[in-house]
Amino acid sequence: MFDGTPDEISKLIEPGRVHRRVYTDEDIFELEMERIFNRAWMFAGHTSQIPNIGDYITTDIGRQPIIFIRHKDGSPQVLLNRCAHRGPKLCNDPCGNARALTCLYHGWSYDTDGSLIDVAMPEGSAPHFDKKDFGLAKAARMGEYRGFIFVSFAEKGASFDEFLGPMKANIDDLVDRAPEGAISLDAGIHRYFFRGNWKLQVENVLDSYHVPFSHASTVNKKGEQFSRREGDKEGAQVIDEKKGKKESTSDVWKGRRSYVVDFGHGWTSNTELKEGERSSPAYDAYKEALAAKVGHERMEEILAPEFHNSLLYPNCSIMGLNMHVRVIRPVTTDLTEVTVYPVKLVGAPDEMNAANIRLLNVTHSAASFVQTDDLEAFRRTQVGLQSVQSDWIDLSRGMGEEQADSHYNATSESAMHEMAIRAQYQAWLYYMCEAA
Ligand SMILES: [Fe+2]
Repeated sequence: MFDGTPDEISKLIEPGRVHRRVYTDEDIFELEMERIFNRAWMFAGHTSQIPNIGDYITTDIGRQPIIFIRHKDGSPQVLLNRCAHRGPKLCNDPCGNARALTCLYHGWSYDTDGSLIDVAMPEGSAPHFDKKDFGLAKAARMGEYRGFIFVSFAEKGASFDEFLGPMKANIDDLVDRAPEGAISLDAGIHRYFFRGNWKLQVENVLDSYHVPFSHASTVNKKGEQFSRREGDKEGAQVIDEKKGKKESTSDVWKGRRSYVVDFGHGWTSNTELKEGERSSPAYDAYKEALAAKVGHERMEEILAPEFHNSLLYPNCSIMGLNMHVRVIRPVTTDLTEVTVYPVKLVGAPDEMNAANIRLLNVTHSAASFVQTDDLEAFRRTQVGLQSVQSDWIDLSRGMGEEQADSHYNATSESAMHEMAIRAQYQAWLYYMCEAA
């Protein structure tokens, strides 16, 4: 029996390795839902998904079904999707617009801020019944940065500002690319489930070591990956075909860095591409639109990309190359949902936004060339971890080589190492053992 005491939990994480039970044990999974997903700040939605009063989307954060809705006063609200009467899920549709939210079971209806408006047959209510006591529950805390809405279901704990910290720069890096300085996540979604633990996807976001191997089918004879951005003639040099098989990873790829900050967040450095040669009618028109808003110098600055993948631990990643926001939702120990939101740059020409989405279809849809490789790796890992003869998963690459980085105020290491994953397990320990 696993009681989840700090002592027991700490034994699962050793320097440079973690116990396989953190991926396979149902008791540990239950504790993760309670102590991580009900405590940490979690990405809930983006304000562009609910532009008008009454617009809503429904989703789940860990085990909590939520309604993300635009209230009559214009404010975004995160309400628990559960009727305060007998508990049915109130909104069943993935998205919609409503003046009021009415429960299918007994007809109770709620305002867009969750307050109870009407009870069917009110004459039957008990004498002590007061509508004020029966509003929809809300996330305990909510924070917003440039339209990104995060919630925490815990009253106490790190503030949203503390949680986000230096990761604001990673959000800025994406949002500043829009001529209007705003992004929109209203272009639909890719959604898939994989038979593996949620942490496999979270780890993978900052794992550059796997790319030359897992994604070998995405490179051409010269070792360059296919072009993934509008206007690029070729992709990143991932493999150096001149080297021997075991040393095939290109120096360009090996030169990548990863960075970590508090709370398990981190990012990998930009993918090196021929920026000066990037050109196409859609891209050139986009550059013009951006320069018209921010000036030529700032446009050049914005379009010199800094970040490849960024992780806001535990449930959100932002990809700078094939622009999207990815949300990770654990379902069981070995089942995880991933939702990919394409990013539209507000003020960019339609052809540019369309091109970005088309490229995202190629890299991160359920039938893509990149993400499907990872999903297969996750599935195989989950199968392999059933084996009981060896209990430990090794994460020791680059241990002791971490360096302080004063530019980003972060800790940095080669992206071919596993520092970022080790940092994720420090955050995992923090939430599982220490967070209020
Ligand atoms: Fe991958």
